[in-house]
Amino acid sequence: MAKLKVAVIFGGRSNEHEISLISAAHIIESIPASKYEVVMIGITRKGHWLHYIGQTDKIRSGEWEDDADNVPCILSPDPVDRGFIATLPDGDIQRIRVDCVFPALHGKNGEDGTIQGLFQLSQIPFVGCDMLSSACCMDKESTHRILESCGVKMAKWVSVRYRELDDIDAKCEQIANCLKFPMFIKPSRSGSSVGISKANNLNELRIGIKTAFSHDDRVVVEQGLSGTECECAVMGNDKLIVSAVGEIAPANEFYDFESKYTVPQEQTFIPARFPQEKSDEIRSIAERAYRAIGCEGLARVDFFLTDEGEAVLNEINTLPGHTPISMYPKLMEYGGMSASEEVDRLISLAIERAEMNE
Ligand SMILES: Nc1ncnc2c1ncn2[C@@H]1O[C@H](COP(=O)(O)OP(=O)(O)O)[C@@H](O)[C@H]1O
Ligand SMILES: [Mg+2]
Repeated sequence: MAKLKVAVIFGGRSNEHEISLISAAHIIESIPASKYEVVMIGITRKGHWLHYIGQTDKIRSGEWEDDADNVPCILSPDPVDRGFIATLPDGDIQRIRVDCVFPALHGKNGEDGTIQGLFQLSQIPFVGCDMLSSACCMDKESTHRILESCGVKMAKWVSVRYRELDDIDAKCEQIANCLKFPMFIKPSRSGSSVGISKANNLNELRIGIKTAFSHDDRVVVEQGLSGTECECAVMGNDKLIVSAVGEIAPANEFYDFESKYTVPQEQTFIPARFPQEKSDEIRSIAERAYRAIGCEGLARVDFFLTDEGEAVLNEINTLPGHTPISMYPKLMEYGGMSASEEVDRLISLAIERAEMNE
């Protein structure tokens, strides 16, 4: 049988660009070569799309960007093209048809529905959530509104709009009347904890809100929860695989950018060190939330198990990290699914969904 052509897209205009490079290298190396032929498409920090044909090590290190063989290459929104259009050095056009797209991207412009909209226009099967659910999960305010309306428990929260900065002191007072300190201030659409801060008093709240507004024009303030952070990996379209629950014991004040990508192995625990019935409750909420917000393919659903023993959903990541220390592949592996089986299944799910929609 002819091999299926899968385009792995990496990098991107996002503050998680570097993480995407590591995820992508790991994903490309896991794709079974007996079944698939990989086409590598890198997006620079400035947003240029390039067809790359070099080694995966250079993706990891960032050197891929300067490879002399790179040529500009964009995804055509025209379903007739069913793939990419590269511009060769002599000005000729080369069409690269593909059977599936695998976005190994994180955060803005990769995980927020924008690129998924382009995939939908192109009518090429793609791995992961569609445009709408990606956008809803990326936007913390929307996640709160949708999941709370479905009865999923999340932290108490307040939204802040840019115009409210005009009288920020009044807004902070108002927030302090609704929520207790400590509070977490988050840009509504961010990732990897960028722009997020913890406030213990009104002054820190004011500073935190201003900081968050430098990343987005909408900000969410949440009441701080005290407990254990844990994560659950979900895979599937209709029929779902829900992994065991993994626990994170952050080394820093909270699970910030630094601890996210430097956590030594011993600070994650699979399975989590709490009673089975709590894990089962978390797994069942993860499944309900995944379906409620319309996820398909994969997502990692993040929780707090509070000191009072309550499972509170924190967020859903629709393109969870796939670095060698990332929780999603580790949770799947714990359930007996190797990395190559995982990517193989994700590609099959993408193709199945496209066939269903035909
Ligand atoms: N309400 C909260 N209570 C306690 N800690 C929180 C709360 N919200 C966020 N955090 C901490 O901040 C980290 C990043 O917040 P999160 O909402 O997951 O943003 P991101 O999308 O950047 O991952 C969490 O992993 C957690 O450590
Ligand atoms: Mg998070």
